[in-house]
Amino acid sequence: MGSYEYQIGVMVMVMAMAMLCLVGVVMSSQDGWDNAHATFYGGDHGEGTMQGACGYGDLFKQGYGLETTALSVSLFNDGKTCGACYELQCYDSPWCKPGTIKVTATNLCPANYTQKTGNWCNPPLKHFDLSVPMFTKIGVYKAGIIPVKYRRIPCVRSGGIKFEIQGNPWWMLVLVYNIAGDGDATDVKIKGSNTGWIQMTRNWGQKWQTWVQLNGQSLSFQVTTSDGKMVQSDDVAPKDWQFGQTFEGKQF
Ligand SMILES: *[C@@H]1O[C@H](CO)[C@@H](O)[C@H](O)[C@H]1NC(C)=O
Repeated sequence: MGSYEYQIGVMVMVMAMAMLCLVGVVMSSQDGWDNAHATFYGGDHGEGTMQGACGYGDLFKQGYGLETTALSVSLFNDGKTCGACYELQCYDSPWCKPGTIKVTATNLCPANYTQKTGNWCNPPLKHFDLSVPMFTKIGVYKAGIIPVKYRRIPCVRSGGIKFEIQGNPWWMLVLVYNIAGDGDATDVKIKGSNTGWIQMTRNWGQKWQTWVQLNGQSLSFQVTTSDGKMVQSDDVAPKDWQFGQTFEGKQF
């Protein structure tokens, strides 16, 4: 090979390496994937109708189904991330299956502070506890635990935001669920037809409370998610609403 051809060869190689580097940089900074681990709990039916730490009830009736996850303490953030959506991908393990899953946070994977090692849900660990059908889409069942990459994604929901009115005439508790977009309510306000906007406070999970009595008034809601976006739903409940009823508002 002549020296000219050699020089061309070196140039092509350097250019190819530069391009590979560029692709690497672009890929590693892409869309904020982070590292965590995933396990599974229970049988094939997920959390089903069990009420978890987010306060949701029947996950199938509420539209979440099996595509759910419990979050470790550090991801759960005192329930503030209830309703958030994540995409997970197994990586760097012989137990991985290709592809990704999309799940909604509906529960807490509790810490055990007397168990110093081996509890994957203790802070500061990032961990997803999945239903068996979700886990086995990205990992082999007998692996038990797999390393995953995860990222927040927009939630896709059918229909509007749902407001389930619980409590009693002196204390109103509203479960807010089926939120699209960021998925996690960070602020909820309520308005009766005879009142101004009333700030609700988080009781637990996605249950919001007020002691203002709104019986006999139609109800409006403002829901804000962690991205700062707000959706206002006017008069979602008529003035003869009852405790135990669920109403549907607008959607992000
Ligand atoms: C927490 O961990 C300790 C030590 O391993 C164990 O004895 C205990 O049963 C655990 N508690 C719960 C609630 O799992």
